[in-house]
Amino acid sequence: MPSDLKISAEVRNAIEDLELFGEESLYISRVEENIKKGSSLSKQGQLEALYTRYGNCQNCALGSTRKKIVFGTGSLDFKVLAIGEGPGYEEDRQGLPFVGKAGVLLDKILASINLDRKTNVYIANIVKCHPMRDPAQPDLRGNDRAPTPEEMFSCRPILDQQIEILQPPLILCLGSVAAKNLLNSSQGVSQLRGKVYDFAYPVSGKKVPLLVTYHPAALLRNELLKKDVWHDMKVLRDLIAKL
Ligand code: URA
Repeated sequence: MPSDLKISAEVRNAIEDLELFGEESLYISRVEENIKKGSSLSKQGQLEALYTRYGNCQNCALGSTRKKIVFGTGSLDFKVLAIGEGPGYEEDRQGLPFVGKAGVLLDKILASINLDRKTNVYIANIVKCHPMRDPAQPDLRGNDRAPTPEEMFSCRPILDQQIEILQPPLILCLGSVAAKNLLNSSQGVSQLRGKVYDFAYPVSGKKVPLLVTYHPAALLRNELLKKDVWHDMKVLRDLIAKL
């Protein structure tokens, strides 16, 4: 860093940290610091602290157009953490994940192997606020879009902290956005599904199995994908049986 640059001490420290530790380790130390702050609390208490910390989040542009942040929902005794891409129209209004048409189908898919968000599944998303194609028309249905790489990057600390708090024994990625993001891959969902991956928790590095399947919205568009999703559910059921 040039020494004659006129910048505040705070920015100078941040840049020095980045130069010293690299962007990734600085990021991990921030997430770790937040986890430590809440670690004397129960899981529920740590989640509440996390939600309070990010309740007014404006870390990306989605913060200015959302109605409600959609953190996640489910039983704390869950066996599977299911991760989608981001809230849609209905989720934005209710503050809950997968409550629209795709959510109804997701509940049916989960029920086929005796899973249910009230008892043994936790559901979250990669981004917590509603990405819209045209943010000037927030009340328009069908205005949803996939999150941008910048939005996913800025929201990722929330999911990382959820993972460290919740300690999921198994992770199910719903669709390509979640799969690519968590596996750090550029492959599509049809290439990524059908295998069991070792997912390392972002801070502690603990490894757990991760599966990929199609997003329920993709199934609504193409019924032929049902066969593959059923196959994926059977693999998930076998992994749960081994827990
Ligand atoms: N699609 C998602 O990926 N997540 C939701 O919460 C709803 C729809």
